[in-house]
Amino acid sequence: MNVDGLIKLEARRQAETLQMIPSENYASEAVKSAQCSVLNNKYSEGYPGKRYYQGNKYIDEIENIAIERAQKLFGVSFVNVQPYSGSPANAAAIMATVEPGEKIMGLRLSGGGHLTHGHPKITFSGKFFESVQYDVDANGLINYDEVEKLAIIEKPKLMIIGTTAYPRILDFRRFSQIAKKIDAYVLADISHIAGLVVGGVHPSPVGYADVIMTTTHKTLRGPRGAILMTNDPDLAKKIDRAVFPGLQGGPHNATTAGIAVALAEAGSLKFRNYARQIVKNARVLAEELIKYGFKLTTGGTDNHLLVVDLGGGGKDAAINLEEAGIIVNYNAVPHDTHPPANPSGIRLGTPAVTTRGMKEPEMKLIAGWINEIVNRAGEGKSVKVEVKELCKKFPVPI
Ligand SMILES: Cc1ncc(COP(=O)(O)O)c(C=O)c1O
Repeated sequence: MNVDGLIKLEARRQAETLQMIPSENYASEAVKSAQCSVLNNKYSEGYPGKRYYQGNKYIDEIENIAIERAQKLFGVSFVNVQPYSGSPANAAAIMATVEPGEKIMGLRLSGGGHLTHGHPKITFSGKFFESVQYDVDANGLINYDEVEKLAIIEKPKLMIIGTTAYPRILDFRRFSQIAKKIDAYVLADISHIAGLVVGGVHPSPVGYADVIMTTTHKTLRGPRGAILMTNDPDLAKKIDRAVFPGLQGGPHNATTAGIAVALAEAGSLKFRNYARQIVKNARVLAEELIKYGFKLTTGGTDNHLLVVDLGGGGKDAAINLEEAGIIVNYNAVPHDTHPPANPSGIRLGTPAVTTRGMKEPEMKLIAGWINEIVNRAGEGKSVKVEVKELCKKFPVPI
């Protein structure tokens, strides 16, 4: 089959199955059309008004619109919209705040942190910087007293707060108080929760973090990209230099335009209601799964995701759920003794199904189906049919 045919099949897969990977979402048609536009054809190394290529009159305007919208939406004075994605954006944030070989401190992967937060040995953040990792406690929660103890012993130059599999509210204020005691910078990576922050259902790190990074394609519903923010003029210059020419060449202008469109959408009242519904849906899904006897890390959720501790066999569970049309990812649980390739749990999120308009009643149905599949409590075949019927009732929005 050719690529066009495969794209059509992928569109059908996305429409006929439940996308419950918490980092995924459906971008609007307006975002996608900006992203697939002629802007793809243009080279624009540099920044608006300071390009190394001619012909950037309109590109400059588009990038300035994206910057202004992000400044307004998040309430920050400086924004860089050029990072190609979350990982290079974190690399730029680290490069802007510490020198190679200096100490950084982030949350361990199995505790819900991200690879780019200092995961040892195999990542740039663990290889080129001295990395110390804090962990969650026995209940799966970040214990800020323990973070403080470790920070005071280790004295990292940069402390990273931000998660990829943590179902609770992050205390940016407390984290920044700890960092102040040791004169460390704070990087808040709000990739997962940015939509919840602008939607008013998660506290903002503005005022507490020196640098804020978010990807634009998760709860924000934009194109695959990232933005970096700060209110510190000195760090602003360092961030710009770290992104270009430090790590990147020409910005992906079509993505910048998609980010501008997504940021306008995220500033609407409709988006605030959407963010609220994401959280409500996650809470109901968690409550229902608990009723079926599932063990959730931290005992539940305050945000858009939940991690189910199956005690092993996360991979099989994810494969069986995919067979039934429920798409999740297998995931480590805190202090997991199983290997990352087949960890103890699965991770579920509500952003994409909420984009389709699903609410509490649908979460109850989904929890029942997860129980049927994972606990082999029913007939898998009928779940597949029922999932497809539900998907038909809630088409992917355009
Ligand atoms: C918290 C966090 N930071 C950074 C990233 C990296 O983003 P990307 O996959 O766009 O490189 C992710 C992606 O899942 C993430 O969850």
